[in-house]
Amino acid sequence: MSAALVLVAVAATLIVSAYLYVQWAYSYWKRRGIPYIQPVFPFGNFSLSFSKKMSLTQETTKLYNETSEPFIGIFTTLQPALLIRDPKIIKDVHIKNFQSFNHRGFQVNVDVDPMADNILFQQGEKWRNVRTQLSPAFSSGKMKAMFDVIANCTVSMHKYVDSFADTQQSVEVRDVFARYATNVIVSVAFGIDIDCIKNRDDEFREKGTRIFLPTLTNMIRNTIPVMAPRLAKLFGVRFADKDVGEFMIATVRKNLEYRESSSVSRKDFFQMLMQLRNTGRIDESDQWTTSESGSNKKAISLEEMSAHAFLFFAGGYESSSSTMSFLMYELAKNPKIQEEAYEDIMKALKKHDGKLTYDSVADMKFVEQCLNESLRLHPPFGVSGRKCTAKYNIPDTDITIEEGTLLFFATEGLQTDPKYYKEPYKFKPERYSEDGKSSFLEMPNLTFGEGPRNCLGMRLGKLQSKVAIISLLQKYRFELADEHKNGELKLHPFAAVKLPSRHL
Ligand code: HEM
Repeated sequence: MSAALVLVAVAATLIVSAYLYVQWAYSYWKRRGIPYIQPVFPFGNFSLSFSKKMSLTQETTKLYNETSEPFIGIFTTLQPALLIRDPKIIKDVHIKNFQSFNHRGFQVNVDVDPMADNILFQQGEKWRNVRTQLSPAFSSGKMKAMFDVIANCTVSMHKYVDSFADTQQSVEVRDVFARYATNVIVSVAFGIDIDCIKNRDDEFREKGTRIFLPTLTNMIRNTIPVMAPRLAKLFGVRFADKDVGEFMIATVRKNLEYRESSSVSRKDFFQMLMQLRNTGRIDESDQWTTSESGSNKKAISLEEMSAHAFLFFAGGYESSSSTMSFLMYELAKNPKIQEEAYEDIMKALKKHDGKLTYDSVADMKFVEQCLNESLRLHPPFGVSGRKCTAKYNIPDTDITIEEGTLLFFATEGLQTDPKYYKEPYKFKPERYSEDGKSSFLEMPNLTFGEGPRNCLGMRLGKLQSKVAIISLLQKYRFELADEHKNGELKLHPFAAVKLPSRHL
């Protein structure tokens, strides 16, 4: 046989084997007798988001709406995954059977990417220890103590918005809120006061923008570690660019040296991370000292401290700025509700001597309802997931989920399902009134996740969003810019955190 013929035979064998392998991989759910949505090679059921036609949230919502099964088989590239639709099963895997689903399913490479060694991606015992260590930092007492740091960040936001109000120009709130949230998070997590509203080229803003910029690289960075973990490992996909990681470590080192050498203390996360590093724990009371335990041994390394601060930064600023933007969008679209929110603010302020404090904000119940309703309609993360870490039997069935299987939850799909929310696309804050409160099964909501691995920063995310909106509503009325008055809100197909495709 000639060399050419051998080559053709080898190529044909490879093609046929690859074809048979793909067919076999895509028959996984059929072989298990579980209903599934037909996948298409090579992206399985996620071709539209991989080809940039829609965002991952939109495609998962579409899959959710295509069926009424309690759970349905899907594929991420060649990997089998389950989209769980039934709130009862969702609750079970998040809470009761959490021990079988304590992993998010993200493949990270901490050896080359030290910023990825953070609570979001950790699993098992390591995650549990870090969660226990960090939880006291997010208590309501600690939020109250940090309130002034947050409220101070509204000053530069007001100056900026004033300049637009004076000339009656429309203001791009998405950008303003992203900059305000960056100021807040850098201030509390890194202990540094920056003003990226005034200093447009601020380095933190530049680094933060780079993490979430809706680019193809970031889309790959956010999806491949879940959708194709082997590829992520093979190609060493990073969570943070090398220079971003180095910048975070250098910033933490500099500030740590400064605070330790000059005995400066401030009520912020950075202080709590110093306390954790030196004493092995974060004090649950209003105790902010970072005195050493006697030995020079540190409970956490400088890199770990930087990874925590970085995660607070990355997890906190984009999600909160998305939250504020969509809430402001809904209030501008619904002027009567905006007026009601204003009255709620004025009533609470009157009760608290006109002062914006932690307690006066807590008294603004209608503002809280508006925030909850906006987060229902526009959850910053419209999809979430868990990886099965130990065999699990789906309740009331004889179906077992195998270890390693990914579970998907269509957060936005669930939260806009007419089965649970009448007129789901209407902004109705009364859904969250005191007497309207319902259980997860009646009004499923995964905006902040659920169970022991839910969002650690929920209180901070909500607080900083309310402070910004309340302080602006005290002074201004907002209406939609002409471009939004008649148009449907289009979403950005690349964005990991919900983002409109045009300015807001
Ligand atoms: C409105 C703003 C925010 C939203 C909508 C949000 C949403 C979420 C969601 C959906 C999760 C996954 C939960 C799960 O898998 O069950 C999460 C996890 C997390 N969030 Fe947030 N988040 C927000 C703000 C923040 C802020 C401000 C911080 C910190 C400064 C933060 C820190 C975290 C951390 C540390 C985790 C991982 C928890 C763990 O794995 O144990 N988040 N967040």
